[in-house]
Amino acid sequence: MSFDLDAKVALVTGAGSGIGAAIAERFALAQARVTVTDRDERAGQDTVTRIRAAGGTAEFLRLDVTSEADCLGAAEHLPHLDILVNNAGVGHVGTMLTTSGADMDRLYAVNVRGVFNVSKAFLPGMVSRRAGVIINLASIGGVVGIRDRLAYCATKFAVVGITKSMALDHARDGIRVNCICPGRVETPFVQARLKEYPDPAAAYREMAATQALGRMGKPEEIAAAALYLACDEAAFVTGTAFMIDGGWSAGK
Ligand SMILES: NC(=O)c1ccc[n+]([C@@H]2O[C@H](COP(=O)([O-])OP(=O)(O)OC[C@H]3O[C@@H](n4cnc5c(N)ncnc54)[C@H](O)[C@@H]3O)[C@@H](O)[C@H]2O)c1
Repeated sequence: MSFDLDAKVALVTGAGSGIGAAIAERFALAQARVTVTDRDERAGQDTVTRIRAAGGTAEFLRLDVTSEADCLGAAEHLPHLDILVNNAGVGHVGTMLTTSGADMDRLYAVNVRGVFNVSKAFLPGMVSRRAGVIINLASIGGVVGIRDRLAYCATKFAVVGITKSMALDHARDGIRVNCICPGRVETPFVQARLKEYPDPAAAYREMAATQALGRMGKPEEIAAAALYLACDEAAFVTGTAFMIDGGWSAGK
């Protein structure tokens, strides 16, 4: 097994930070030509700089996944895309009582409509070439409920639904669609959630303990799974929701 991406063209959304940055860097290490996209240009450029410093091939493209124009522009810029990673996502702490309509709309716009917008822009090219891999970042919160994460779970369950529907619709088009469901992974995303708690240190300990392994995951541990799903070694894998959650979903 080589796990080589062999000059394939990959695009990662939200690749300026955390899991997306780790996936872009891992793909470049496996010889992919990576388009790093993010709505935050500086963060995305930093990822490109790290990839190039390590000898990889990368470019930056500003892409806000909530903008259909940005998504169509990206598909025009990259008419031949082999691997799409829909990673950009946002979170929110709240129950039905403490989540506003605006919170719900904001999470939906990025986490669900964003996956829809980017996939819709790139899918026709993949269908016409009868080849392509799409990997969506869902979450443990797309498979089981999480207390105080009403809007987040609602949107991540939708990402799992999009993944499975697209996998069935496009299996015979030569396209594989999978999602990854991480438990808690130590990234700026989790740091931002911690700040929403009155005692962030206690919240950190509690979040780490949710995983059976007693710790949070690392972005590189998620990137390794993305690499597998992107490679030809995973040619028989489609429609899956790949749990990488330190045992969280195995039970109490
Ligand atoms: N960190 C975790 O514990 C965890 C667990 C499960 C799932 N996830 C999912 O993994 C993905 C990445 O999470 P992370 O922890 O690396 O987050 P992060 O906050 O560290 O990085 C997210 C990146 O997405 C970008 N982004 C946000 N909105 C965007 C938009 N509209 N268009 C383009 N880019 C946008 C941000 O600028 C940022 O660079 C998300 O979908 C998240 O829901 C994370």
